[in-house]
Amino acid sequence: MTVETELADLAADIAREAGELALRRREEGVQLAATKSSLADIVTEADREVEALIRERLRAARPGDGFLGEESDADSGDTGITWVVDPIDGTVNYAYGIPAYAVSIAAVQGEAVPGRWEALAGAVFAPAHGELFTASRGGGAYLGSQRLAVTSVTPAGALLATGFGYDPATHDGDIETVRRVMPIARDLRRAGAASLDLAYVAAGRLDGYFERGLKPWDFAAGALLVAEAGGVVTRIDTASARPMLIAGGSDVHARLTALLAEEA
Ligand code: IPD
Repeated sequence: MTVETELADLAADIAREAGELALRRREEGVQLAATKSSLADIVTEADREVEALIRERLRAARPGDGFLGEESDADSGDTGITWVVDPIDGTVNYAYGIPAYAVSIAAVQGEAVPGRWEALAGAVFAPAHGELFTASRGGGAYLGSQRLAVTSVTPAGALLATGFGYDPATHDGDIETVRRVMPIARDLRRAGAASLDLAYVAAGRLDGYFERGLKPWDFAAGALLVAEAGGVVTRIDTASARPMLIAGGSDVHARLTALLAEEA
């Protein structure tokens, strides 16, 4: 067993336990804890409780590693490995009772800054669907025990997904981005959980995905899933400090990049 597969197994075990807790709390009724960057950007009591559980399990298993999570303070650790965690990605879906939400856990090496880290392992668990996606560097991407591969483009066009920022001031720009890509799309999905959008690209359920302004925990695990399923993921810096993430099989990725790079 390699370090990467050990880390992936740990991420998978913790993501399952954490996801089951999120699902139980969902069944009991969701309590809104606070709003963050805007009124639409919410955190529930369950987000905080699930992140605390993940942090505790990681500390017990790998006490020296760093931690970068959506809901609590970062810790740089001393092993060079950092866990990048979104306890409940798709919080708005979670709050509304839509099953498209997931626990996302990645182990990265190097500086805990996207673009300067190398992802070693990741797990995305969607508890309401009972689906566990895992990947390890060099070891492939899986849904359960099934190996994943991204799609190639078809004459019907690409099934694309995207997301929108919480800040209403960004909506016009994000809608303009959608307008640009529609010529290559057979259709567009906006499911509400970036980690699952990326997992679905890895699984061939989507042909491509793009979104501006994602946070590291939204895509750390999902980007590794796509890469390990044979796809390409890039992040284009933008003047507005909302980098554009583009993911897909190499042909769809290239087409999206051509359409979006100049705008970014
Ligand atoms: C959000 C979801 C959403 C994406 C947002 C993210 P959160 O994460 O992934 O799909 O469009 O950009 O912030 O807030 O639910 O963890």
